[in-house]
Amino acid sequence: MIGFYDSGLGGLSVMQAVHQLLPQHNLYYLADTAFCPYGPRSTEEVRERALACAYWLVARGAHLVVVACNTASSAALEVLRAELSVPIVGMEPGIKPAIQSTRVGRVGVLATGGTLSGARFARLVERFASEVQVQTVPCHGLVERIEAGDLHGPQTQQLLQHYLTPLLEQGVDTIVLGCTHYPFLRPLLVELLKPDVTLIDTGPAVAQQVARVAAMTGLVPDVGRVCAATTGDPASVAPVFAHLWGEVLSLEHADC
Ligand code: DGL
Repeated sequence: MIGFYDSGLGGLSVMQAVHQLLPQHNLYYLADTAFCPYGPRSTEEVRERALACAYWLVARGAHLVVVACNTASSAALEVLRAELSVPIVGMEPGIKPAIQSTRVGRVGVLATGGTLSGARFARLVERFASEVQVQTVPCHGLVERIEAGDLHGPQTQQLLQHYLTPLLEQGVDTIVLGCTHYPFLRPLLVELLKPDVTLIDTGPAVAQQVARVAAMTGLVPDVGRVCAATTGDPASVAPVFAHLWGEVLSLEHADC
């Protein structure tokens, strides 16, 4: 079984890409809703949650854990790889594909404050983006709108418009969705942006990596069962889960 976790439901965008690529593999999603959002939390706290969630998934039978969260990957990938005996696949904002995509040499990155202030992100920009201008925007409050299931309402629209304004003023032609929640805002983003702006979502690339690691680990296709749990209240998380995943699942409570 392949386990996924995120601070909340954003990682479903990654699990969707994996489910499309490996429809027969059994998947287990853990939403750490009780501690959502991770963005404003300290690195130590996010690291602690990463270990708790990953151990929980392994205890449930995960043979591979996908950290479907940029903020948790930034804070905890090294410690997870050192502590756990199963392979760990993480995420990072798609700076490399953005550099390949930009025609004007100006790229915007939407992510949480935690991801953008982390050492991993600094290394990524230093390594790949020396010839390109990278403008970052920490998007406080957006994760909460998505967790509330508000993908298109006036509050979400206003917030997103506010975060896009500095990027559009700079004339970026490529925007990296550096948080796994944001691909769920794609329809709204498409409405708010000119058609020549390219959106970069690393979900499909991560799914390819998951497929490679799953094959190397000897994980074989089964019945394609999808299970889910939350550290929050299953009854209140279930409707938004169903909305984002596109199917009603019964969620269990995870005590971790
Ligand atoms: N989906 C998480 C990410 O990719 C959101 C983090 C948060 O909870 O603030 O960064």
